Amino acid sequence: MNSFYLADRLPEQLPDDPMHWALAWLTHAEEQAVRRNANAMAIVTCGKNAKPAARMVLCKHFLANPGYLVFYTNYKSDKARQIQENPNVAVLFHWDQIGRQVRIEGQAVRSPEAESDAYFATRDWGSQIGAWGSDQSTPLESRKALLAQVSKRALKLGVNVAKNLGSIIGSDHPAIPRPPHWGGFRVWASQVELWIEGKDRIHDRARWQRTLQRQGDHGFVVGEWSGTRLQP
Ligand SMILES: Cc1cc2nc3c(=O)[nH]c(=O)nc-3n(C[C@H](O)[C@H](O)[C@H](O)COP(=O)(O)O)c2cc1C
Repeated sequence: MNSFYLADRLPEQLPDDPMHWALAWLTHAEEQAVRRNANAMAIVTCGKNAKPAARMVLCKHFLANPGYLVFYTNYKSDKARQIQENPNVAVLFHWDQIGRQVRIEGQAVRSPEAESDAYFATRDWGSQIGAWGSDQSTPLESRKALLAQVSKRALKLGVNVAKNLGSIIGSDHPAIPRPPHWGGFRVWASQVELWIEGKDRIHDRARWQRTLQRQGDHGFVVGEWSGTRLQP
C-alpha cells in the first residue's frame, strides 16, 4: 500500500474523501493478514424495538466510489429483519495491529440479485450448502438436528453430506444455486470516522458527512463529503 496512507496521522488538510482512506487501510490489513479475517467488521442494527444489536460479518466488497460496502447474510436473519424495519446501520472496523479504526454509518439496502448470484457462485461448495442448510437466527433443538437438516436439504440439491459438514463426500457435485433467502446488503456511507492511534492517547480523529438521497432499489444519489477534525 501507498505509505502515504500509513502515516501516523491524517494530513493537516483533511482528505476530501474518507472512503479511499478506509479502503486503503482495509486493503493493507488484508494484504498483511494482520489477523484472521482482517475484513471482519461489527455491524449494528436497530429494529423497531429501538434496541441496538451488534454482530460481526465479513466485508466482501468495498467501493470507495460511490461509497458503499457489501456483506452477505441470510435475508430471514434477525439483522435482515432489523434492517427491513430500519435501514440505518453502523459499521465498525478495528485493526489493533496497525492502530486504526474506521466507523461508518449509513443505510443498508439489498444488493441486486445478479450481484448476489455472482458472489454466491464464487463461494466454496461447503459454504454454498451451508447457506441452504441454516435458517439463521431461528431456534434450534440441538446440534444434531441442525446437521440432519443440512443433510436433508443437501440431498434435495443432489448432494450427499456425511454426518458432519467437514466431510462432504465427493467432488463431482451439482452446481448449487443461490438460496433466495441469502444475499448481500450494500451499506451506503453517510458518515465516516477515521481514527489513528496516537502516543499518550493523543489519537488522530476526523469525521466526514454527506447526504444520501434514495434512488432506485439499490442506491443513492450522494452529496459531497465534508470533514472535521475531532478531539480524541
Ligand atoms: C468473524 C465473524 C465473521 C462472520 N461473518 C458473517 C457474515 O459475513 N455473514 C453472516 O450472516 N454472519 C456472519 N457471522 C455470524 C454473525 O456474527 C451472526 O452470528 C449471525 O449472522 C446471526 O446474526 P443475527 O441473528 O443478528 O442476524 C460472522 C461471525 C464472526 C465471528
